[in-house]
Amino acid sequence: MQEDVNVTRSKVRSLAEVSSLINSSLEIQVVLANAMKCVQTLLDAEASAIFELDHSRGELFFRTALGDAAEKLKDVRIKMGAGIAGWVAQTGEAVIVSDAHQDSRFYQRVDSLTGFQTRSILCVPMASKGRIVGVLEVLNRKGDELFTEDDLEMLAILGNLIAVALDNARLYTRLSEQFALTEEELKATQARLIRSERLAALGKLSAGVAHEVRNPVMVIGGFARRLHKQFGDVEAVRKGAEVILSETERLERMVSDIEAFCKLRQPVKAPVVVSDLIDRMVDGIADTLAAQGIRINRSSGPQPSELEADGELLEIAVRNIVTNAMEAMPGGGALELHVDSRVEDLVLTVKDHGCGISPQDLPNVFDPFFTSKTRGSGLGLTVAHRIVSEHGGEILIDSEVGKGTEVKVVLPFH
Ligand SMILES: Nc1ncnc2c1ncn2[C@@H]1O[C@H](COP(=O)(O)OP(=O)(O)OP(=O)(O)O)[C@@H](O)[C@H]1O
Ligand SMILES: [Mg+2]
Repeated sequence: MQEDVNVTRSKVRSLAEVSSLINSSLEIQVVLANAMKCVQTLLDAEASAIFELDHSRGELFFRTALGDAAEKLKDVRIKMGAGIAGWVAQTGEAVIVSDAHQDSRFYQRVDSLTGFQTRSILCVPMASKGRIVGVLEVLNRKGDELFTEDDLEMLAILGNLIAVALDNARLYTRLSEQFALTEEELKATQARLIRSERLAALGKLSAGVAHEVRNPVMVIGGFARRLHKQFGDVEAVRKGAEVILSETERLERMVSDIEAFCKLRQPVKAPVVVSDLIDRMVDGIADTLAAQGIRINRSSGPQPSELEADGELLEIAVRNIVTNAMEAMPGGGALELHVDSRVEDLVLTVKDHGCGISPQDLPNVFDPFFTSKTRGSGLGLTVAHRIVSEHGGEILIDSEVGKGTEVKVVLPFH
C-alpha cells in the first residue's frame, strides 16, 4: 500500500516536472525536443515519435522523433486509418500493442523504411481544445518488460500536455512572425514616414504660403492703387509708401525663411559632441542673451554626450528652440539647458519660465506659419521638427501657461 502511494507521488512529481519543462519555451522545436526527452525517460522506451495531423490532407506527418531511426522518419506521411498511429488519429483512442507483428493494424512499411524493429507500441492521441492535433507514440520498452495500463495513462497525460504546449508555441510563432520587422523593414518604414511627413509639411507649407502672401500683397496692391490716384497729396503718398515698405519687408523676411526651409539639406552625419554644439550656439546668441537679461544654466548627466549627427543642422534646431524660450521671457530670467545620455538615446532639455503655450495652441506649434508673434514667421519649430525627425528623433513639449515650457529633443544613438 505504502509502495503504491510512493509510486503515485513520484509519478505526479515527474508529471509536474515534465509540464514545466515542456512549457519552459515558446520555440516549437525546443518544446518538442524537451517533450520527447521526457517521454522516453519516463516510459523507458527505445524510441518515440510525434506525428502531427494535417487535417486538410487527412494525413499524419512526422514532427519529431528520438531513437536510432529518427533521422529516417523525416519524410514519412501516414494516411488517416493506416497503421497504429493512423488508427489512433482516426478513432481518438489510445492503444497498447504488446506484439506489433500479431496486430493487423501494424504498418510494416515504416519499419522497413527506418530499419527499426518494432516489438511493442504505446500510442495516444494528442488533443488541444477538444481537437485531435496529432499522435504520440513510444516503441519497445527497454529490457523484456511490456508496457502497462499505467504507462498508457501516463502517456495520455503527456500527449495532451504536449498538444497544449505546441498550440501555445504555434500561436506565439504566428504572432511574432506577424509583428516581427527586420531592421531593414524598420528603416524602410521610417524612411517612408519621414517622406510622408515631408510631403504633408510641404502641403501645409504651400497652403500657408498662399495664405500668408495674400494679405501683404493685397495691402500693397491697395495702397499702390491709392497712391496712383492721390499722387498730388504728398502726405498721403508718404503714408502709403511707408505701409508698402513695411509689408514688402514682411514679405521679404517670409520669402527668405521659406527659402531657408526649402533648402534644408539632408543630414550628413559625423561624430558630434553635444556640449561643444551648445557652446557654439550659446556663443552665437551671447549678445541677445545679455541684452534681454537672460542667464543660461547648463547641466549634464554623468555619461559623455556624443552621437552621430549633422552638427550644423542640429545647431539650427536647438537655436530655434532656445530662441523661442528667450522670446517667451521678454523680461529676462533663467533658462535651463540639460543634456542627458540614456541607454539608447540622448535627451537635450530646454526649459524656460516664460509665458507658456495654451493647450489649444500646443498641437499646432510644429505647423508651418503657426505663430503667436507679430514678427515671427512660424517656421522655427517646423524646421527644428524636420531636422530632429530626419535624425530619427522627436521633440516633446510640456508647457503650462504663465509657468513656462519644457522642450525635450530626443535623439537616438543609432
Ligand atoms: N518656449 C515657448 N514658450 C511659449 N510659446 C512657445 C514656445 N515655443 C514655441 N512657442 C509657440 O509656438 C509658436 C511657433 O513657434 P515657432 O518657433 O515655430 O515660430 P515663431 O517663433 O512664432 O516664429 P519663428 O521661429 O519662425 O521666428 C510660437 O509662435 C509660440 O506661440
Ligand atoms: Mg520661433
